[in-house]
Amino acid sequence: MRRLTLAFETSCDETCCAIVDDDLRVLSNVVSSQIDIHKLYGGVVPEIASRNHVMAVQPVFEEAMAQAGVGIRDIDQICATTHPGLAGAVMVGRVFGESLATALGEPFVCINHLAGHVASVALSENVKPPFLSLLVSGGHTSLYKVSAWNDVQLLQSTSDDACGEAFDKVAKILGLPYPGGGEIEREAKKYNGTDFIAFVQKPNYYKECFSYSGLKTAVLNYVNRKKQAGEDIILPQVTASFQVEAVEQLAVKCASAILKTGINTLCVCGGVAANGYLRQKMKQVCEKLGASVLFPKMEYCGDNAAMIAAAAILGVEIK
Ligand code: KG4
Ligand code: ZN
Repeated sequence: MRRLTLAFETSCDETCCAIVDDDLRVLSNVVSSQIDIHKLYGGVVPEIASRNHVMAVQPVFEEAMAQAGVGIRDIDQICATTHPGLAGAVMVGRVFGESLATALGEPFVCINHLAGHVASVALSENVKPPFLSLLVSGGHTSLYKVSAWNDVQLLQSTSDDACGEAFDKVAKILGLPYPGGGEIEREAKKYNGTDFIAFVQKPNYYKECFSYSGLKTAVLNYVNRKKQAGEDIILPQVTASFQVEAVEQLAVKCASAILKTGINTLCVCGGVAANGYLRQKMKQVCEKLGASVLFPKMEYCGDNAAMIAAAAILGVEIK
């Protein structure tokens, strides 16, 4: 008989609930985004996020149950993101899920948000360990070696800003709305020139960690220099140049990890994995190395609860 997992994700600015079966078939995956609220402030305001999760969690849960066409007694286990995340925000999904589990007498599983992102690729691809997993989101830039689902080891992470955070901060510098990742990609697509600005963070490529604050500052300095000289910036050129360098660093480090570990499957997950240029570049780099690269479906790149259910079902553990 199929077992059903009910999952909650409220670690940042999305209230999410999903129902997934043991074969990782997603019966429902409801995401209620607060982006329009936080846009007014240019970033996520933690207290506002918590309050909105409180108001959204019950309707989102009811919608997920209705879409899946199941009753509460059909649920076999409940899980929620419990860490890392905004303290007040993450608590909402956890308390809602844990209370429900207690009332029903079903088990409750605490899930690491990052384990959820690592598991997200398995919702649409037939991927089995060992593989390398690059997690690129607003809060993290981490490269993992997934030896087994319950044996995920961190190889490298960022020493300063996360990659998505750099997209968001550069967007802000350029006057683009929050969240900036998609906006930067849209602007960059308009550039068909070849004169890329060298913000040059190449020395970082060879360090044992990712680093994005230098690239972000280089863009800021460039914009300020142009302003002081009374010159206009070409938005598509600046965004395309930033995007090339942001992605180049990921590509160089993943290529080197593939060569070092001999593991020739790479999964790229997290919000930034939605970026079309990143997908194209990673495919090129992996093809050259005879490695394969897999991505989650678009709806499983950003925060969602289906990936949290997948982490519970697969037993993903980050060491
Ligand atoms: O995984 P996610 O939804 O939340 C975190 O766990 O952080 O990732 C959100 C991040 C934001 O920084 C957002 O700007 C970035 O993912 N992002 C993108 C794109 N879509 C979202 N970055 C680059 N290109 C995109 N198309
Ligand atoms: Zn996330």
